[in-house]
Amino acid sequence: MNIAVKPSLALERDEAFALPLAELNPARTDRFQNDTIWPVFERLRREDPVHFTAYSDFGAYWSVTRWDDIMAVDTNHIDFSSAEGIALPNRRALAEEEAALRAIGQEPRRGRAGFITMDEPEHSVHRNAVSPTLAPTNVANMSPIVRERAGKILDSLPIGTPFDWVNLVSKELTAMTLATLFDFPFEERQKLPYWSDMVTNMPGHGAVKSWQHKAEALSECFQTFEELWNARIHAEPGIDLISMLTHHPETRAMSQEQYRGTVILLIVGGNDTTRNTISGSVYALNKFPEQYDKLRANPGLVSGMVSETIRWQTPIAHMRRVATRDIEIGSKTVKKGDLVVMWYISGNRDETVIDNPNAYVIDRARPRHHMSFGFGVHRCVGNRVAEMQLTIIWEEILKRFPRIEVVGEPVRTYSSFVHGFESMQVVIPAKA
Ligand code: HEM
Repeated sequence: MNIAVKPSLALERDEAFALPLAELNPARTDRFQNDTIWPVFERLRREDPVHFTAYSDFGAYWSVTRWDDIMAVDTNHIDFSSAEGIALPNRRALAEEEAALRAIGQEPRRGRAGFITMDEPEHSVHRNAVSPTLAPTNVANMSPIVRERAGKILDSLPIGTPFDWVNLVSKELTAMTLATLFDFPFEERQKLPYWSDMVTNMPGHGAVKSWQHKAEALSECFQTFEELWNARIHAEPGIDLISMLTHHPETRAMSQEQYRGTVILLIVGGNDTTRNTISGSVYALNKFPEQYDKLRANPGLVSGMVSETIRWQTPIAHMRRVATRDIEIGSKTVKKGDLVVMWYISGNRDETVIDNPNAYVIDRARPRHHMSFGFGVHRCVGNRVAEMQLTIIWEEILKRFPRIEVVGEPVRTYSSFVHGFESMQVVIPAKA
């Protein structure tokens, strides 16, 4: 694969450094889609680490771009609330969606993002109900079935002809694991990534054709999960996520709205993130072929490589909070009610904390020293599941294929929240 700096990237770099600081809007989505976001964050970390954007599609917001400041915000859930949402709200899209939903007689979606959009003490009650399913012991119990399913996916791949890795491997493996976690009907597992795409995309992107299309898909999702709730609540308690929710004394009584939010959170949380890390690992190993050589020579490096991919890719570019009082971050005073964006994607490239951060190095001394799972009370509850899937797929890949070659630049997601790939063509060469 051609890994030289593209001319467009050089131009984008000049632009990012030439623009008046006040005009820098790091959430500009096109820069994420064409992978030219890096110089913007490099400049902000250096010149204006806590940066205010006054005008954007997302309204006015603060960007926190250095490791230490991000950590300070993420671990302070009293002064920075999650209750009003955790991504930058695209106001124009929200208004369009509201109008479209009203036109088809549906109420706009409000508060449907589950416990990630709750503050304490409510948040912990809901988180504690699902965390045993995602804890290391249960994850270890699940791993043989994930390994078997991962092997089947890999054994069915075409050899010697190009195919879309995102579709045939990344989506399929995450769908299989999520179906296992939910104890969801296995033959219908493709519905899980489909619904996740319908939630995260706007019309014209991914599979979403229109707002109505999106609303219909979500109705189908909620109906399916309500049927599962009704079946599990009367069954013997199990270790799957829905059974845990229906049998936990506090979540058993949750409202339909809260349940729907939790379902969406678990589907989206477990989907795009892991899927994009799986694709990101193949991409990064091709971009840094000497690291791929190292991995082939020593498969024991898989676990470090997995963590390095999670850092380097940063599948969730940001999380957003709202300040609950006037408060200082760095040398800036943020006002009560202001939106504060923690750019994990920038913190993970903070050169004062990570050595040579733009390089992908699979045997770093502290591979889990990254921000991609967040910190504090909302730290990713699915992190062990994600690492397990990534580790297993690579252990199985290395047993089978000496090389997976990326052929051409992937198509990236149009989002400043989900940092990933729509498609990525690869070839697995036939063995000589
Ligand atoms: C590489 C994969 C993943 C990444 C990078 C990732 C990233 C994140 C981040 C950044 C947060 C918010 C942290 C904060 O606000 O401090 C989060 C929360 C969450 N993630 Fe993940 N995630 C991944 C995989 C998963 C998986 C596999 C699941 C479920 C099966 C999952 C479920 C959740 C849930 C439920 C929350 C909300 C936790 C809370 O609010 O207490 N994630 N994740």
